[in-house]
Formats: sequence, C-alpha cells, structure tokens
Amino acid sequence: MNIMTIYALGDKKPEIAPTAYVHPQAAVIGDVRIGERVFIAPMVSIRGDRGRIEIGDETNVQDGAVIHSEPSFVTKIGRRVNIGHNATIHAESVEDNAAIGMGAVLMLGSKVAEGVMIANSALLYNKTKTEPNKIYTGVPAKYMRDLDPTSDARRAIDEYLDTYVANTELYRKDLHKIEE
Ligand SMILES: CC(C)(COP(=O)(O)OP(=O)(O)OC[C@H]1O[C@@H](n2cnc3c(N)ncnc32)[C@H](O)[C@@H]1OP(=O)(O)O)[C@@H](O)C(=O)NCCC(=O)NCCS
Repeated sequence: MNIMTIYALGDKKPEIAPTAYVHPQAAVIGDVRIGERVFIAPMVSIRGDRGRIEIGDETNVQDGAVIHSEPSFVTKIGRRVNIGHNATIHAESVEDNAAIGMGAVLMLGSKVAEGVMIANSALLYNKTKTEPNKIYTGVPAKYMRDLDPTSDARRAIDEYLDTYVANTELYRKDLHKIEE
C-alpha cells in the first residue's frame, strides 16, 4: 500500500532535499522546506498551512512531534537540532544545535537560541527568548544551568544526532513494510 504523506496545499508545495528521509506515516503539508539529511519519524506532523516552516540540515524530528506556524512569522528550525518525541513546536525560531526534550512545548513566537536544551516536558511560554548554551526546565521553563559546547554532555548530544543522520540512509535502504 502506498501511503501519501507529502501534500501540496493550493500552490504551496513542500520542498524536501533528496537526502532527507520522511517516514510514510508522517505528514508534511504546504509551505515547508526540509534540508539535507533531515530525519522525520513516524507520526510527525509538519503543517505549513498558515505560515512557512523551514528545517535546517541534519535536524531530526522524532515520533509524534508537531510543528506548526503562523502567518505573522516563519518558523525557522536550524541545523543539527534534535526534536524529541511528542514535542510541540509553535516557536518562531529554534537555532542550530538546540535540543528539544520529549514532550516539551514551545509556545507561539518563542525563540530558542543556539545550543540550548529545553528539558523533557518543559513549557516555553509565548514569545519567551532563551540565551545560548543553557538548559531550561519546568513549567513555565526557567534557566537550570549552562550547557558548555565543549562538555561531555554536549558531545553525547552530537553523537545522538549523528545516529539520526545515519538513519536517513538506513531507513531508505533497509526499512520494508511487511504486507499482511
Ligand atoms: C534537564 C536534563 C538535561 C537534566 O538532566 P540531569 O542533570 O541528568 O538531571 P538529574 O536527573 O540529575 O536531575 C537533576 C535535578 O533536575 C531535576 N530535573 C531533571 N529533569 C527535569 C525536567 N525535565 N524538568 C524539571 N526538573 C528536572 C531533577 O528532578 C533533579 O532535581 P533535584 O536536584 O531537586 O533532585 C534532562 O532531564 C532532560 O530533560 N534531558 C532531555 C533529554 C531529551 O528529551 N532528549 C531528547 C531525545 S528523545
């Protein structure tokens, strides 16, 4: 069975780099650009029906995450961003090397700076800005501690990102649907 997952909406058609992988059970709609070696897991919704969404190279979007935008801004997600399971992204920007924890919610117009980690289940309130290379936790999200770009914790995030970059090839080559 061929499941269609990439949808044009009027004249707005997703642009997806040839090296990106979008799982057939994800939905990508309308005004969306997806960069090189991006991995989009099953049950992700990236819905560019109200505003444009851009996703930079080597970013991953994990199962159940939702990305939506608004007419008043472009939602820009940078390079090598990790978006954990079930995260909700209604942010204006998520800059390079940021990590969004499982179930985190980035509310309307919020801005995640470079190298920031938003912890599991944290809620970044409307239009909140963060400072680079820091961890934010809680509801509403508050500064917890620094995340040094040269630390072991940062290296572990980078290694984790690399597994998702490798997944783009692995899934294209070796993922086979088992017909009943
Ligand atoms: C925020 C985070 C980095 C903290 O990691 P850590 O330093 O190993 O945390 P610890 O488990 O040692 O806990 C330290 C303290 O922070 C608290 N804490 C940990 N995670 C928290 C969270 N998500 N929200 C609120 N508080 C949190 C702990 O309760 C503990 O508090 P205490 O000192 O009062 O007992 C981690 O919990 C996290 O959210 N990582 C994101 C992982 C992720 O979602 N990756 C996406 C891939 S799926």
